[in-house]
Amino acid sequence: MFLPQGPKTPPLVQLLQWIANPFALMESCAQRYGDWFTLKVGLNYRPLVYVSSPQLLQEILTNDHYKQFDAPGEINGIFAPLLGDFGVIMQSGDRHRRQRQLMVPPFHGDRMKAYGEIITEIAKQVTSQWNPNQPFSVRDSMQAISFNVILQAVFGLREGERYRQIEKLLYNMLELTNSPLKASLLFFPFLQRDLGAWSPWGNFLRQKQQLDRLLHAEIEARRANPDPGRTDILSLLMAARDEAGEPMKDEELRDELMTLLVAGHETTATALTWALYWIHKLPEVRQKLLAELDILGDTPDQNAIVRLPYLNAICSETLRIYPVGMLTFPRVVRSPVTLLGQQLEPGTVLVGSIYLAHQRQDLYPEPKQFKPERFLERQFSPYEYLPFGGGVRRCIGAAFALFEMKLVLATILSNLELSLANNRPVHPVRRGLVSAPTKVEMVMTGRRIEGDKRDKGEGGDKGDKEAIPATSY
Ligand code: HEM
Repeated sequence: MFLPQGPKTPPLVQLLQWIANPFALMESCAQRYGDWFTLKVGLNYRPLVYVSSPQLLQEILTNDHYKQFDAPGEINGIFAPLLGDFGVIMQSGDRHRRQRQLMVPPFHGDRMKAYGEIITEIAKQVTSQWNPNQPFSVRDSMQAISFNVILQAVFGLREGERYRQIEKLLYNMLELTNSPLKASLLFFPFLQRDLGAWSPWGNFLRQKQQLDRLLHAEIEARRANPDPGRTDILSLLMAARDEAGEPMKDEELRDELMTLLVAGHETTATALTWALYWIHKLPEVRQKLLAELDILGDTPDQNAIVRLPYLNAICSETLRIYPVGMLTFPRVVRSPVTLLGQQLEPGTVLVGSIYLAHQRQDLYPEPKQFKPERFLERQFSPYEYLPFGGGVRRCIGAAFALFEMKLVLATILSNLELSLANNRPVHPVRRGLVSAPTKVEMVMTGRRIEGDKRDKGEGGDKGDKEAIPATSY
């Protein structure tokens, strides 16, 4: 069976490299082998073919509707310990399509826009806890924002004891896989042994069981008090019936909730952390953004914010340079197919390397430089720029994540003066199954004065500081 070339090192070494420094491994392989290469880093060292050229990505992602290629759920087993076996990520074929149809609408159009005010309000609330001149962890704050936002979208509520417990447990669980070493738990099934509450896997399982109980309790509470007026995702999923008229089972509902909670908040929080870092690392980026925001006046309309070209370019460049999702989910060859003159046999597993596609010198000159202008100067095809993947598994929350990023950044930048707390280098590292920056700390140095904003043009944001009381807004 043909497989593109790849390193000759033992599979275990490849897997350890993939866990420890996925960016370096992908880059060195791309340099050596070009647009596609094979790494034996799948579950049980299964070979995965990494592809990064727009032509190959297009070929695969436009034909992944179960004929030439497929995007089966079973192959995403690495997510199962975290997300369960019944959520959309683990589904295949028709069932996958049906689940998606149910889940997509709340994250788009007017349904999504209804969350705009809430997002802004949550951003204000979280940032009001920043004390002047005291360093804070950007990730913790962004995570608090995105978690509350996703709870609101999924459950339609964000208060009460159960929500606080869910937040705490989810945070603890994700922390248990947040470094390359800890993430090994997910990659090596033999480490997944319950040796009691103090063992890493035992601890993980106990947190997960507690979380499952809370999610079940929420589902039961909804059943006991049905409210047809509710439009959140849990209500929608509970009301849905399949072709046989059957509702979703409790395990299915629970795993879908877990999927949305995990996929919807870690990723967006990471993207926001990177965006704030770049904006404050590069003064000219911040100045251009402020000039654009200030034109909107003191109470900007959310539709106007969403359409701002430079803000959009900043979000796009943030998701280009170090994409949170480094890879697409795997796609599997179903019928023999010829790519780059080579026939691939059924069963061959391919992954799109979003990171390598975004680092192509031919598309993105000086790819390691943060340059939002790229996105103002040209349009990229969905196979040149794909932070949310593509095809049948394209991210359900793509529009929602961008909407949230823009509103949160606009809220923070329009009102607060921030700066990086230190000059420590920041670089991307593995965080569980996705990537994230190393620690970013910032300090709030002042509050932007309302009247000042309107008069300012590019570069004119100096001296507009005012000491801020512990509780701003
Ligand atoms: C900046 C934020 C985000 C990034 C970078 C991101 C990235 C991705 C990527 C790369 C994929 C795989 C696509 C493929 O295989 O082709 C994906 C899938 C998915 N994302 Fe996101 N995502 C983000 C936010 C969200 C949000 C906010 C939600 C939901 C609230 C979400 C829910 C999902 C789900 C459910 C899938 C699986 C879809 C399926 O299996 O059909 N994501 N995302």
